[in-house]
Amino acid sequence: MRPAALARQRICASVELESSGRGRRFEVDIGGRVVAAFVVRYGDRVYGYINQCAHMELELDWNPGMFFDTDGRYLLCSTHDALYEPCSGACVAGPCAGDALTPLDVVERDGDVILRRGRLVGSAPESSADTPGDEV
Ligand code: FES
Repeated sequence: MRPAALARQRICASVELESSGRGRRFEVDIGGRVVAAFVVRYGDRVYGYINQCAHMELELDWNPGMFFDTDGRYLLCSTHDALYEPCSGACVAGPCAGDALTPLDVVERDGDVILRRGRLVGSAPESSADTPGDEV
């Protein structure tokens, strides 16, 4: 991907995501359908998913950008308490156990979190004046 294209796909700065901390919401166009999505950090890696429970078409976060349970171990669906592995998106408890979140192809590059597939179309910034898609 060329640098300008990379900048258009920038979700946020890497430093904005702390392990098991607040995630970053954004929207992505996948095949002409715009859907809510998010990225979080768990350990030293970032992970991106469509923001939709595997159980029902509901967003997961219990407050904007808050995806982890209180222990910071699992991603939590705030509606019916399904728990998801942050590394794989697999549901390990709750009404959708055995299903999984839909992963997104995200990567860290030069201090930024970049969406590699799908088109970044919008954002819902919560804690930063920095807006996804800003030139870097
Ligand atoms: S909507 Fe997510 S567990 Fe029910």
